Amino acid sequence: MNGGALQRAFAACAPGLEPALARELDLLGLSARAVAGGAEADGPDAWAVACLGSRAADAVKARLWDGPVSGIPAARKEIAGRMPGVELESRREGDRATLSADAAGTPLFKRGWRARVGAAPLRESLAAGLLLELGFDGSQPFLDPMCGSGTIAVEAALLAGRRAPGLGRNFAFEGWPGHDAARTTEVRERLAALSRDPPAAVLASDRNGGAVRLAGKNAEAAGMARFVRIERRDAADAAPGSGPGVCLVNPPYGIRLDREVEESWRSLGSLLARLPGWTVGVLAGDPAVARSLPGKPVRALEVQNGGIRCRFLVYAP
Ligand SMILES: C[S@@+](CC[C@H](N)C(=O)[O-])C[C@H]1O[C@@H](n2cnc3c(N)ncnc32)[C@H](O)[C@@H]1O
Repeated sequence: MNGGALQRAFAACAPGLEPALARELDLLGLSARAVAGGAEADGPDAWAVACLGSRAADAVKARLWDGPVSGIPAARKEIAGRMPGVELESRREGDRATLSADAAGTPLFKRGWRARVGAAPLRESLAAGLLLELGFDGSQPFLDPMCGSGTIAVEAALLAGRRAPGLGRNFAFEGWPGHDAARTTEVRERLAALSRDPPAAVLASDRNGGAVRLAGKNAEAAGMARFVRIERRDAADAAPGSGPGVCLVNPPYGIRLDREVEESWRSLGSLLARLPGWTVGVLAGDPAVARSLPGKPVRALEVQNGGIRCRFLVYAP
């Protein structure tokens, strides 16, 4: 990576996951700091590294200039001369401003593997960000006992297999004047070389047969079918296998008195009681229903899932 052009990027993510995104960008070799709505990252080839390598980011902006508000017209002119046709976005904060351009072009959560979606799917980037927030690195067994269309389990397998999410895609910055294609190829090759077989089991289950089939198709579309075991089971009967590991689950949302939802949470509670030593993350729409779970969360984050304010409850030994 050394020798690449020093660049600055702003990566956006779901509110609540900024620190996890900054840690991810650091691990990718950039120097990142969490800010509201995402992370600022500096480093060689930062735009390529963030677009190709970040799982938690939804978008990556190339920071092309920052300075006093009064400097915007001159900066626009200078950038238009060197990068004609690139659309600039300006942001002001007090008397300071930035000029940026959308380096990714299309939302990064559209990985291309999700052919089919279930009733309430998570964004791929949110699933990955929550896994990172739990400290999941693929070396531990993984379980999603309410997998729906399989987003979380597929992202867990991709993370465990160190498959860089952007390898099969092209990004807007690659078409910009002055883009150094050889550098981006080098970043692609470096990230591709990290790929491995996931070292620990990735398990997914759901009580709904249609969801199980959907999850299987999605795992196949992502090229991870042989690494994800998907079963039809009630969460109360989920078989975590050898542990301890990491469990991330997105139970159905609903109002407190919805019987079916309450029953789902009871099943989850009885499973969690069988997971001593595991790190468990529960994305809860209504924190009140989470009271039926055993134990107390060690932390609770506010995150947004498709505009719905949720609590992400983390249980750890
Ligand atoms: C909000 S959806 C999960 C969506 C999933 N994260 C995705 O991205 O597609 C909740 C899932 O929990 C499943 N479910 C509800 N109660 C369950 C139970 N007791 N045991 C197993 N699965 C259950 C439902 O069938 C549904 O697929």
